[in-house]
Amino acid sequence: MLAMAGAVVLPGNASAASTLGASAAERGRYFGTAVAANRLNDSAYTTILNREFNQVTAENEMKIDALQPQQGQFSYGNADRIVQHARSRGMQVRGHTLAWHSQQPGWMQNMSGTTLRNAMLNHVTQVATHFRGQIAWWDVVNEAFQDGSSGARRDSNLQRTGNDWIEAAFRAARAADPNAQLCYNDYNTDNWNDAKTQAVYRMVQDFKNRGVPIDCVGLQSHFTGGSNYPSNYRTTLSSFAALGVDVHITELDIRNAPTDAYRNVVNDCLAVARCKGITVWGIRDSDSWRSSENPLLFNGSGQKKPAYDAVLTALNSGTGPNPTTPPPTGNPTTPPPTGGQCTATMTPGQSWGDRYNTSVTVSGASTWTVVVAITSPQKISATWSGSPTWDASGNVMTMRSDGSGNTFGFTTMTNGNSTARPQIRSCTSG
Ligand code: XIL
Repeated sequence: MLAMAGAVVLPGNASAASTLGASAAERGRYFGTAVAANRLNDSAYTTILNREFNQVTAENEMKIDALQPQQGQFSYGNADRIVQHARSRGMQVRGHTLAWHSQQPGWMQNMSGTTLRNAMLNHVTQVATHFRGQIAWWDVVNEAFQDGSSGARRDSNLQRTGNDWIEAAFRAARAADPNAQLCYNDYNTDNWNDAKTQAVYRMVQDFKNRGVPIDCVGLQSHFTGGSNYPSNYRTTLSSFAALGVDVHITELDIRNAPTDAYRNVVNDCLAVARCKGITVWGIRDSDSWRSSENPLLFNGSGQKKPAYDAVLTALNSGTGPNPTTPPPTGNPTTPPPTGGQCTATMTPGQSWGDRYNTSVTVSGASTWTVVVAITSPQKISATWSGSPTWDASGNVMTMRSDGSGNTFGFTTMTNGNSTARPQIRSCTSG
């Protein structure tokens, strides 16, 4: 009977994935969640986290009040715990958030003028340096625009230091961690017709025109209480993308978790090549900052809700990764290598049901370029300690040294092929 079972041909999409992260990876995207450090001891919570998600955002632990409670005294314990939990399991990390009017420590709330500007820039530099190489995307600035019809900046102590505070924060973040993608993140920027959406769009356009370092825009997408999923959401995503930035859905939750709205959000993201992934703002309804609205994909007992099935089905029935989109990070302008040979040795790392880690150590060169090929439908979902670019198929990764040493690593989603393993094509110095 067992031998018979092996011969059964599954109907439908043979590669349909059974978890959110694996399914999103098949589309060249991630599916993530906000994580609270104090829940990492709850095994019901971590079971779902580790099974379903391949991206993590700290819900509160990387905010200014958490990281610098006293001026000059940094407190990284809880944030490091989340980063370690995520990265040791091949999940990418979104840093949230370097500069924000809210959740400031008391000492910062009381500051103004040049003193505050310098304290903000120092915070950006210190924190981005501490996490350098571990963060795929930083929310550099969060929620800097007003709600309503004005399209103006939000009044805050940071805004009162001068209109250029946002670009100053982006420049400081780029200098401290050149390999992190830098995002502007906000809420009520989902409806393309809203003044706030238009204002953020114009700021991003201006930054791109003037060479201010910005790589992405995050739409929080809290469709809950007063602000609903808008039918022009896809237009908003594609309009930002057309400016030459990636788009991320960063804090998704929807009041009462209607299946239609969740499905629409997924389909909208899949329709826009530069929509890189979706993060829900918590795992179970009981973990939500708005738990009374039951806005998430799992109920308080950790069971999948109908919205979960709607999301997974939408991910599984979506079209494949857009071949023009290099996953997941990279610097396409890096010039080709010039030098001679080196040796790259591959070591298998930890593996899980749907993914495995690999590390590669280079000898014979201190700056190097290693080409690694993987076998489709497997897909690399995360990398560290190197600077990757990708060919059009997404199956060949060119990894360049980023100054962090001679070993880099990456996570491969098996996507149904559990036997294939990466192959090293070449190692070139320089
Ligand atoms: C929320 C957290 O979920 C809560 O635990 C905390 O009390 C307040 O902040 N926009 C953001 C997030 O960018 O950081 C907020 O997170 C939700 C709104």
